[in-house]
Amino acid sequence: MTHHQQSQEDSSLIDKDVGKYYDNIQQLELATDASSLPVSAIWPKRTLISRIGIVIVIILSIFLALHLRATHDGREVEQGGLVPTGPYRLLEAHEGRDFFSYYDFYNGSDSLGSAGFNTYVSQSKAEEMRIVDIVTGDNNEELVYLSSAPTKVGPRDSIRLEGKRRFERGLFILDVRHMPDGCGVWPAFWLTDEDAWPWNGEIDVLEGVNGQTTAKTALHTSNECDMYAHVAPYAKTGDWEWITGIPNTFTGEPDLRSNKPADNCWIMAQHQWENEGCTAVHDRNDTLGAPVNAAGGGIYVLEWDPQNHYIKSWVFSPEIPQNLFDAMRTAKVKDTSQRVMPDPSLWGLPYAYFAIGYTTGCSADHFKNMHLVLNLAFCGNVSGNRFSRECPVLAEKFNRTNDNGAHDPVLTCNAYIESNPKELEDAHWKIKGVYVYERMLEAPKEEKVDYAQI
Ligand SMILES: *[C@@H]1O[C@H](CO)[C@@H](O)[C@H](O)[C@H]1NC(C)=O
Ligand SMILES: *[C@@H]1O[C@H](CO)[C@@H](O)[C@H](O)[C@H]1NC(C)=O
Ligand SMILES: *[C@@H]1O[C@H](CO)[C@@H](O)[C@H](O)[C@H]1NC(C)=O
Ligand SMILES: *[C@@H]1O[C@H](CO)[C@@H](O)[C@H](O)[C@H]1NC(C)=O
Repeated sequence: MTHHQQSQEDSSLIDKDVGKYYDNIQQLELATDASSLPVSAIWPKRTLISRIGIVIVIILSIFLALHLRATHDGREVEQGGLVPTGPYRLLEAHEGRDFFSYYDFYNGSDSLGSAGFNTYVSQSKAEEMRIVDIVTGDNNEELVYLSSAPTKVGPRDSIRLEGKRRFERGLFILDVRHMPDGCGVWPAFWLTDEDAWPWNGEIDVLEGVNGQTTAKTALHTSNECDMYAHVAPYAKTGDWEWITGIPNTFTGEPDLRSNKPADNCWIMAQHQWENEGCTAVHDRNDTLGAPVNAAGGGIYVLEWDPQNHYIKSWVFSPEIPQNLFDAMRTAKVKDTSQRVMPDPSLWGLPYAYFAIGYTTGCSADHFKNMHLVLNLAFCGNVSGNRFSRECPVLAEKFNRTNDNGAHDPVLTCNAYIESNPKELEDAHWKIKGVYVYERMLEAPKEEKVDYAQI
């Protein structure tokens, strides 16, 4: 495996023009550095400054502290001085036929960053091909069915739904009864802003690769979004993804001795795979893919709450907290007083916890203007690059080599998908609903600025 392949094998759902990012990254880093420079650079020199200088510096620092608080906190004061810290209220419930009114179908080939072996088709074409449908589940429930279909030659036709609404925060709940699963299969439910990636961030809520059965939540950001020393182990049940074998910067040799957690969300973070991001892993290995499908599905929840300084996520399968169950069951009730509001404090610890906002290592403005994406890809830069390691039997059977005669995992994965194996019939989504809540606005609580930290 070459250095290049190694460093991109865990790259994720990135989109659009990755080149644009690499071209502009230096500009971005300069801009980011400039805003944090006064705080970090002035203090070490203070012994050299006269008393008057010290007074000026203190005044400046207080000003900066307040300024940082206002801008990096995500605590923008809204509507008459209110902030979103109250109980949750329903914003959208996507269910049944109505589901599609909340999304646009993206058509065309997969993005450069993901490079999946699939072509996304329009809604009308998908409906015509019956890879998009409404089916009946248990108890006569309407379920949204999303799948893919082979073409005569080349990439499969598939679907990518992009949410119409943009979010700055929220509680996002996916009730999925069946998810695509298997070798070469790469489904995802996530949040991003493609046109401003990675500056406006990416949050992967559900992402399955090559039959993976352990859930993960990953954040992908620009620089200066680090979870190190900001997330207490007792805040969550899961762990960071631990990585070993990152190629040495100078020799390119995999470093198998060091082992470290992937807790830096910056896509270019040192000592992590390129675009790995910060990745939280569930403590149970039956929280994604086949075991969840066998249990009749699962509920995936992301709580993105800059005002309370965290992003959390949960998987509930097979058991669902009563409060969450009632919230979903009553989401569509017309009489809003009859709706049960979700209260995450009743659900137990999340498996993933990310600290964002004031006093953390990641300012809240790393996540902005995001919409939901629900898609089904094949092979490409993640599933394809890992295909030979994660599906060794198929890799031997469909073995393809590159121009140099060396085994090529991506071409091998493509060859497997192109053979239209019977297993791909199982690679479909069945979704009961997607529910989005936001906290109600309330008067801000007094919060002291902790000058000692600056
Ligand atoms: C993704 O794969 C394509 C095609 O193999 C390649 O050209 C591109 O550089 C890859 N991008 C990333 C970010 O790995
Ligand atoms: C495909 O998407 C483009 C926008 O990217 C849109 O203009 C076009 O109408 C779409 N085609 C179909 C068949 O929906
Ligand atoms: C899943 O975890 C259980 C216990 O936590 C373990 O016994 C089992 O071997 C694991 N299965 C796989 C496929 O790793
Ligand atoms: C694929 O074929 C090449 C060339 O014959 C061989 O070197 C390689 O070991 C094979 N890889 C697998 C996974 O079968």
